[in-house]
Formats: sequence, C-alpha cells, structure tokens
Amino acid sequence: MPFKDDDSEFLALMGLGEKSSKKSHYPELRKRLFELERLGDVLDHAGDAIFLISLPDGTVEFSNKAALGLTGLERTAGKRKLWEYLKAPDGSAVTLTSLFNSPSPGERREIVSLRTGRGTRRYEASFQSVARGSQMLGTLILRDQEERILTEERLAETLKTVEEERVRTVRLTASLVEMKDTYTGQNQRGVACLARDIGLRLGLPDGEIDVLATASLLHDVGMMGIPTEILFIPGPLRPMDRKLMQEHPKIGWNLLAREGFSEPILEGALRHHERMDGTGYPDGLSGEDIPFIARVIGLADVVEAMMTHRPYRTAHSRESTIRELAEGRGTLYDPTVTDVCLSLLEEGFSFPRENDNR
Ligand SMILES: [Fe+2]
Repeated sequence: MPFKDDDSEFLALMGLGEKSSKKSHYPELRKRLFELERLGDVLDHAGDAIFLISLPDGTVEFSNKAALGLTGLERTAGKRKLWEYLKAPDGSAVTLTSLFNSPSPGERREIVSLRTGRGTRRYEASFQSVARGSQMLGTLILRDQEERILTEERLAETLKTVEEERVRTVRLTASLVEMKDTYTGQNQRGVACLARDIGLRLGLPDGEIDVLATASLLHDVGMMGIPTEILFIPGPLRPMDRKLMQEHPKIGWNLLAREGFSEPILEGALRHHERMDGTGYPDGLSGEDIPFIARVIGLADVVEAMMTHRPYRTAHSRESTIRELAEGRGTLYDPTVTDVCLSLLEEGFSFPRENDNR
C-alpha cells in the first residue's frame, strides 16, 4: 500500500487513528480501500451527480461518472475545484457560494440552472457538510429535474388555461342573463364586484372569494327561464307576473344543480332574495337559516339595483342608498355584511363600467 507509516492524516481519513501506523494493520487498510473502491463503483452507477468536496477551498476529492458527465470532464489523477465542473447558464463558474448563497453547516437544497453538454438544465442541488476529524467535507448531489419541472410548468399552464376558460364561460352566462333580463337590466358583474369587495373586507380566504364571485355572476341565471313578455313589462309587475318572476331562484338552482355546480353556488342562486326577517322568497327563510353567501350576494344585488339607472326610474344617489341600507340593517340584511357594505359605499365604492375588468 502506498502510504507512509507516519502519515497520520491519511490514517485518520481511513478511520484507523494513530495506532494504525504499524504494518500489522495493512490487512485492515486493504479491506477498507477495497470497500472504498466498491463504494466508488456504486456511486458511478448513480444517476445523480455526486461530489465529495473539501471545505472551505472547494477542492473536489471525489466525483462520480454523472458528475464528470455534466461538463464532459475526464477522470484524472489531479484534483480540480468545483468551479471547473459546473457552469452557470451564462458560462460563468459556479461555486458552492453561488449555488447556496451561504453553504452553512446542515443540509441545503436549491433548484439551480446549469449549462451542461445537453444545454441548460435545472437541477435540485442538495448539500450536506460533515466534520471528518479536523477536516470539513461536503457532499453535493445534483439531481436532474428538468423533465419534472417542465411537466409541472406545462400542467400549470394547462390548469391556467382551463381556469381562464371557466371564468369566460361563467362571464358569458352572466352576459346572456343580462341580455335577456331587460326588466331589471341587472349588471351581474357589478354585483360580483361588490360581493367580492365585501368578502375581501370580511377577510374571507382566496378560495371563498373566488366562489363568491362565481356565485354572484350566476345568481340570476334562473331569469333565463322567465317568459320574455314578463321581462319586457317596463313598470311594476302584476301579482301573477310577480309570482312567476319569483320562480327565478328555483329555476336557477335547477339549472346549476343539473350541471353539478357546488353547494355555495347553488345557495347563492336559490337564496339571494331571502331576507333576515323572513319576508323574502322563495321560502321565507330568516336569519342564520339563510346561507351566508346568499346574504352577501343578496345585499350586493340590492345595492347594485338601487344605484343603477333603470328605464323606468332613475338611480338612487349614494346617500339615499346608504340611508336605505342602514334602515334595513338587521331586519332585511345581515348586520355584519351591511356594516361592511356601508363602509365601502362611504369610502367611494363604484360599480365597474362596460370595459372595466374588475
Ligand atoms: Fe334575483
């Protein structure tokens, strides 16, 4: 074996300590070197690039075949620095510091881009440092994640497209209802905008805000089932026509349920005309029996109707709308939702115009 009896550093690295400086320990050394060779063979078959690095200078003590393959280097007797193996996408040298900002003790993990023989690819770089006697060593493992990341990016892009199509479909449905509903001339987007702002002010989570916005856009879809001649009556409705008109929440619920929309969206359609004191329709529910989402949409619906000009009456002013809401607080409308809505109106909330993308 090519080592000197007094080479204590080498012996320490082999884990044999000073007592192994006797030739009687040659067999043990041979065994350990054989184990190391076998370990090297195993590591050469690993798909990940593996570097064993002296710290802090960054000298590579060992690199497996995958590591050499990164930049096409050959295995030579001389040692190289890490930056000789790794290149950034712009061709600059890569060091542990540039990979991890500060390769402090403990495990670090980052996704990094490297220039390789196969072009620029993204790797999950994990680094672990350990003390070996007086020496600090680090293990750097680079796992090629390019295909996985590309697949995830494509999936995210597909989901985004599907979500955009869903939003367009809901908006289109709302526009169709608006085109037909000449009686109320309702602006579904206006209702959705106010309901969304109320939800945000109440601190609802993002997912619930999205559901609230969708439910608001679809809350009057049942108007599609109301005879056109009733919708064209410009003034107050006769009792019989009013009764028919009041069927629209149930018609909407049926339409949405048939398409498998979620419960909150169904509740928004069915319950948005219920009132806290039980004077609403279709079932005269009161108080907490009215789903919260319907209390928000119901109030946003009322405010939008009041503040928008209709062919048969002018729009209420902001002040008179605030007055009417305050009067109905707790009797007709949910008190908490009313308070939030009143704050928004007092702060200058306005409904979106035709080309406003709110
Ligand atoms: Fe309605």
